[in-house]
Amino acid sequence: MTQTVPVPHGLPMQRDVSPFDPSSQLTRLREARPVSPLVFPDGHEGWLVTGHDAVRQVLADTRFSSRLDIGVVHVPYETPGMPTPVEPSPQMPGVFVSMDPPDHTRLRKRLIGAFTVKRMKMLEEHIMDIVERQLDELARLTPPVDLVKEFALPVPSLVICELLGVPYEDRETFQTNSTRFMTRDLPLEEKITVVGALTTYLAELVMAKRAQPGEDILSDLAAQEDLTIEELTGVAFLLLLAGHETTANMLALGTFALLEHPEQLAALRAEKDLMPGAVEELLRYLSVADVFYRYATEDLELGGETIPKGSTVVVALLAANHDPQRFENPSTLDVRRQARGHVSFGHGIHQCLGQQLARIEMRAGFDGLLRRFPTLKLAVPAAEVKLRTDMNIYGVHELPVTWTQTAS
Ligand code: HEM
Repeated sequence: MTQTVPVPHGLPMQRDVSPFDPSSQLTRLREARPVSPLVFPDGHEGWLVTGHDAVRQVLADTRFSSRLDIGVVHVPYETPGMPTPVEPSPQMPGVFVSMDPPDHTRLRKRLIGAFTVKRMKMLEEHIMDIVERQLDELARLTPPVDLVKEFALPVPSLVICELLGVPYEDRETFQTNSTRFMTRDLPLEEKITVVGALTTYLAELVMAKRAQPGEDILSDLAAQEDLTIEELTGVAFLLLLAGHETTANMLALGTFALLEHPEQLAALRAEKDLMPGAVEELLRYLSVADVFYRYATEDLELGGETIPKGSTVVVALLAANHDPQRFENPSTLDVRRQARGHVSFGHGIHQCLGQQLARIEMRAGFDGLLRRFPTLKLAVPAAEVKLRTDMNIYGVHELPVTWTQTAS
């Protein structure tokens, strides 16, 4: 193992090669040392895992704990000056993505039934209706328009609101706060305020559902008396945020990527059957949720390195999804590729609970958009598209698009 690779200070995540590919430093690191030491901005040492095999290994092994609180403290990287984490941080009740078994298992298993492939299949037509209605609204507008605001964000927000029983009219409140929450270097005090606002809103909602249940996932959960209001609030917080931010960014960045690869776009328009595979490929190629954190609960061997107990371990999903040892020509967007085996939904016990839902939304969303807007194109030069380099979920802040309007 080479020792000459420079140890990165901070995370080399800025996509400097193109708006889509991993940063050049990340690629160099993966080639030279797929499990590398890392120095966080606050000076404490950690590990950065970039190889596909090693990333899967970390995610499959619960000795790499998820107990890093995403609620307030998040990870040390975001709070420079924080002492080296020798203990897992305190947890936000209900937010099971940052829990280990048995707590994780206890909460996740309550939701598995609501998110099965079968349940999601039953929702497919309804999701397609939501997409069509949103496309009707889009078609009524005079281009150029921002595709994020008018399509990519509303579709998953409408879907998750309906599933959870969150009033869509309240979206101003939760979307503003969730955007703030997803901002990478948000000062801790502001993060506390934002989490406070979201949890106050959601706590009132779940209390109302416990008193008067409706026909939605949060009502079903609220009916389970052994779950506390704090836990219900945390679950709602996790589902609401995870349920719309990621899919919205996939829809917008995916459209941008397709517009920038006209031959791929043409293939997809010509052969509708390519859509499910194309969605997997876009998930792989773009990896919008590109960074996750774990914590070594004991000394652990990984990729020929020893990760000491107490280390913060960063898994770089984008780097893993662009590992040439796993995917040939990883920097090529190829809608015909068999992209199975990507880690965009994670792996192991925390693998994305909403992946079937997200797939249905993306297939319906891209399919409808391409069908209804055959002349869709960027309304600004690609270099002017505002990239979400400052956010925890990557994507575009806005996607100005235009099309030729036909007289109707
Ligand atoms: C977990 C990605 C959409 C709910 C995860 C994880 C990833 C991910 C990588 C694993 C986190 C970890 O290991 O720490 C994505 C992407 C999406 C998406 C790329 C869209 C394209 C959704 C949707 C929902 C959702 C629509 C709807 C509810 C969750 C939940 C977890 C999770 C609840 C935590 C699972 C657990 O800890 O057991 N997601 N997700 N996600 N996702 Fe998604």
